[in-house]
Amino acid sequence: MIIVLLGYMGSGKSSVGRILAEKLNYNLIDLDDFIEEREGISVSEIFKTKGEVYFRKKETEYLKDLLKLEENTILSLGGGTPCYANNMDAILNAENATSIYLKGSLPFLSQKLFKKKAKRPLIAHIESEELMTEFIGKHLFERSQFYSKAEIHIVTDYKEKIEIVEDIILALF
Ligand code: S3P
Repeated sequence: MIIVLLGYMGSGKSSVGRILAEKLNYNLIDLDDFIEEREGISVSEIFKTKGEVYFRKKETEYLKDLLKLEENTILSLGGGTPCYANNMDAILNAENATSIYLKGSLPFLSQKLFKKKAKRPLIAHIESEELMTEFIGKHLFERSQFYSKAEIHIVTDYKEKIEIVEDIILALF
């Protein structure tokens, strides 16, 4: 089975993925890390030198390949992955995959991301917490229509990572 973790930036996809993979003894693939390895440069550098359109093309290409994996795998996506091309449908239609939306609220994500914006090209330029909340509010609203199609929804706000992992395991098995 492929367990696909999706959700907005800062919702915990990568860190929850690591713990979940360890607990279930699954392989772990973080799509951003995978893209960085394959392309030989960081996501920020890809945005800067090749542009977002190139990034989205590669993201879609690698996602479609990874959805064919047959080994037990936790696949943590980037925040935008389900929202471009027909990626969310590809995830839902992949025979071997189960999708999980890690759902963070606007105040939680905004507070967290303002501190961790540097390596995220879409929000790195935002100068105040107020502007961060305004940007994320709109962005999350646009993206929720994709995220909410996931088969399982898990609320992540102010929970320890291990609690989130336990909630996922309960929902899955
Ligand atoms: C993006 C989220 C990032 C990364 C890229 C674009 C997005 O991943 O894929 O910067 O469009 O939301 P994280 O969700 O891991 O920050």
